Formats: sequence, structure tokens, C-alpha cells
Amino acid sequence: MRDYPEAYKNGLANDAAGTPDVRTPAIAVSGLSKRVADASGELTILQNIDFTVQPAETLALVGASGSGKSTLLGLLAGLDTPSEGKVLLDGTDIFALDEDGRAAFRKAKLGFVFQSFQLLAHLNAVENVMLPLELRGDGDARAKAEAMLGRVGLGSRLRHYPKYLSGGEQQRVALARAFVTEPPLLFADEPTGSLDAATGESIIGLMFELNRERGSTLVLVTHDPAMAARCGRTITISAGRLA
Ligand SMILES: Nc1ncnc2c1ncn2[C@@H]1O[C@H](COP(=O)(O)OP(=O)(O)OP(=O)(O)O)[C@@H](O)[C@H]1O
Ligand SMILES: [Mg+2]
Repeated sequence: MRDYPEAYKNGLANDAAGTPDVRTPAIAVSGLSKRVADASGELTILQNIDFTVQPAETLALVGASGSGKSTLLGLLAGLDTPSEGKVLLDGTDIFALDEDGRAAFRKAKLGFVFQSFQLLAHLNAVENVMLPLELRGDGDARAKAEAMLGRVGLGSRLRHYPKYLSGGEQQRVALARAFVTEPPLLFADEPTGSLDAATGESIIGLMFELNRERGSTLVLVTHDPAMAARCGRTITISAGRLA
């Protein structure tokens, strides 16, 4: 039973459907800007971005190359710090936390797939996928990692090190690593960019399955109109601003 505010329990504040909407947004972005110093002075990468994503929503982030999509996704995950503005994830102001606090938050709630995969070179495929489980103290890490690699079609590449995997295989290991903890927030930067159509389709299927089964909120950066079309909503970013 959800714990609604007193006014709702008393029937004083129900909405039209009679169901109070007291959900905390999964993501609330306000006044987000990112500027960096460059040779010619200051470069504005993102300017005054505002949007909200509800729990279990699926959002596509699209825009031209260099428009700021990866920068925005990194900020949403607290992997980078903004020049101005706020990001609330499930109500938590992530930039009010220190680095360790943000790392702990990510470990608990977030899966992230980098455009450049970012696998650890000295760990093999299954060890890369086990890592986020082990960081949580999951006693079943190996079995879960092997099962997830099976789901992304890499059951026969468990002991391969990243340098012996193709680009598409590395991408699938990165996806398995992000999915394996079944995070409530899943951020992926061009998750099918290195995959053939059929493999890409099965990976997209897996992401939307997590969204349905676990109510995970998905934010996907993509250049693929078919993937964007499967998301509930699309946000277009153009030269660092919402279009
Ligand atoms: N740390 C940085 N210092 C200087 N410029 C940066 C930095 N990070 C990003 N940029 C610039 O900001 C712009 C946006 O980069 P970003 O990687 O977010 O683009 P993107 O939309 O993800 O592009 P793509 O579709 O090619 O991946 C680019 O012009 C990039 O060169
Ligand atoms: Mg990018």
C-alpha cells in the first residue's frame, strides 16, 4: 500500500481519475548548462536544458553529431559535472552529493552503456559483467553474468578479453554489464551503433523487456529512427539546446 499524503487519503486532492499522481520523476533536469575552456576561450556544449522523465518511461535522445547528446547523458548519470543546473534522479539531487555519494548512487540504481564501451582490458568478458554485481556483494555474480552474456549472444565468448572481441561483441559485453544488475535507470549511448541489424534488434528487445519487466526507465541516445520510434518520447538536441 502506497503511503499517500494525508490530503489524498481524505479524498481531498484526487485527480480526475480518482488516482492521486504523487510519483517522483525518475529524472528531473533543470537549467542544465555545460561550458568548457578551449583554445579560443569558452565553448558552450549545453545550454539551459530542462526536461522530466517519469518512471518506466522510454526516451530517445536524438540530434546531429556534436550536438551534445553524450555530454548530456554523462551529466544525467553524474559522470560529469555541470556548469549550472540540477539533475534529480528519483528525487535525489546528484550534484549535491560528493563524488563518493554519486558513485554509491550509480552503483545502486544506474546502468550506463558508453558510446566507447569502456570495458576493463585486464578483465575477460564474464569478469567485466561480474564487476557491478561484485561491487554490490552479490554472491551469485558469476552465474548471473554468464546468463546475461548468454542473453546477448556471447555464451561462447565468456573468457575472451576485450582486445580479442569484435566491436559489436564488446558493445554487447558493455550492454550485459549495464543490464545485469537490473537497474531502475538505464542510460545507453548509441547502444546498437556497432551491431548488425539482427543483433541490434535483439539488444533493443532486451532493453525494452527490462523496461517492461522491471519498470526500468530508459534513456537511449540514438541515430537510428527505428529505435527512436520504439521509445515513448523523443527529445531532439540541436547545438546544445532542446529543439
Ligand atoms: N571536454 C570537452 N572539451 C571540449 N569540447 C568538448 C568536450 N566534451 C565535448 N566537447 C564538444 O562538445 C560537443 C558535443 O559533444 P558530444 O560528445 O556530447 O556530442 P554528441 O551529440 O554525443 O555527438 P556524436 O553523435 O558524434 O556522438 C562536440 O563539439 C565536442 O567536440
Ligand atoms: Mg556521442
